[in-house]
Amino acid sequence: MNISEAHSVEYESAINLLSRHNQLQLLDYYGELDEEKRRILLKDIEKVNFSVLENINNSTVRSTGGEYSPVTARSLEDIAENRKEYEEEGLKLLRENKVGAVLLAGGQGTRLGFDKPKGMFDIGETRFLSIFEQQMKNIEQVTKISGAYFPLFIMTSEINNTETVDFFRKNGYFDYPEDKIRFYIQDAEPVCGFDGKIFLSEKHRVALSPNGNGGWYSSLVNSGLKSVIEREGIEWLNVYSVDNVLQRICDPAFIGAASLSGLGCASKVVKKTRPEEKVGVLCEKDGKPCIVEYYEASKEFSEKRDKNGELVFRYGVTLNYLFRVKLLDKTLSNKLPYHIAEKAVPHIRDGKTVRPDKPNGYKFETLVVDMVSDMGSCLAYEVEREKEFAPVKNKTGFDSVNTARELLKLNGVKL
Ligand code: UTP
Repeated sequence: MNISEAHSVEYESAINLLSRHNQLQLLDYYGELDEEKRRILLKDIEKVNFSVLENINNSTVRSTGGEYSPVTARSLEDIAENRKEYEEEGLKLLRENKVGAVLLAGGQGTRLGFDKPKGMFDIGETRFLSIFEQQMKNIEQVTKISGAYFPLFIMTSEINNTETVDFFRKNGYFDYPEDKIRFYIQDAEPVCGFDGKIFLSEKHRVALSPNGNGGWYSSLVNSGLKSVIEREGIEWLNVYSVDNVLQRICDPAFIGAASLSGLGCASKVVKKTRPEEKVGVLCEKDGKPCIVEYYEASKEFSEKRDKNGELVFRYGVTLNYLFRVKLLDKTLSNKLPYHIAEKAVPHIRDGKTVRPDKPNGYKFETLVVDMVSDMGSCLAYEVEREKEFAPVKNKTGFDSVNTARELLKLNGVKL
């Protein structure tokens, strides 16, 4: 069989597949494409997860009903009292190589409006200081004490992988041993219009988008890195977001408290400053850990106060979790729900690229917060927000570049 015959077999099967899913528009420009581009498009089509589209009319987001109750956290006072014991346990695990870290760097940072990987954003004032560099400096504080470098897995996306990997390489991996750093690309889901029709990002490419930060574990498994975790005997993974410049990674006391608690996972939390603060809240639902995202919380839930006037649901998550590795496979079999986000998606229409300035379609994302429920139990570990929570989400206002810079300076970082 010659190449074009092989393609025509694949073309026929693409037509069958797309007809079944009512997505034939993906072949609109097939006739204009050269052999190579046809091959790429047919490969893209073969890999599309069409089942994700069923979520449009039949959301799998777990029910918002149920009985919510607050969690009892290890408070700042409890932690101060037990710090020595926690740190000893954490340092022991770090020195035995039982802990690894996973940096979630696959997001697109749309709110920040920065067209490069968010970690490359310059948070300096008088010098260039990338978020990546600042976070690697935070790691150095731990490795200096433990004397042990932990494995660092960095999840990127198809969109930002090359730039991220190049940036680390050009910066000498920020003095971290190169062989301890492993990059992997997160899986992606198709992006469609409000009518459920999948977009083309180019005439020969299906429009895809990273599958949300909940994809970190399944993507790690799909990248073949689970064998590394098994081989190295890693028992805990510290998963953290790229956008908190005060992020303490592999904090020995946090690891120790999590390990000694015997629970399935642990989350660093801060006390919310106001009911409407845009953070997910760690609580329990029907006796199981649950994180209620700010956009899903009712006013009553967010504003409820106890007899001392404190918010009942007061612990906001900082996107710094410890997961017990042996429980993680549950999150694969339980299937995380998809959350649907309305986004402005560039795509091909009438042969040209259009870049809408308001939402025109859906992206499908799984969230790391949903993994916490699957762990069965979660330790809430309170940290001081001025020392550990400086998210860079927006250009200005709350959780912005300016608020993060102020907090860095407060912590003695020269910008
Ligand atoms: P956010 O939920 O703030 O998303 O990510 P974002 O993409 O960075 O920013 P917006 O919402 O477009 O403005 C929280 C963390 O999860 C990671 C981000 O890189 C960040 O560390 N993330 C998010 C992924 O790794 N993959 C994703 O698909 C989404």
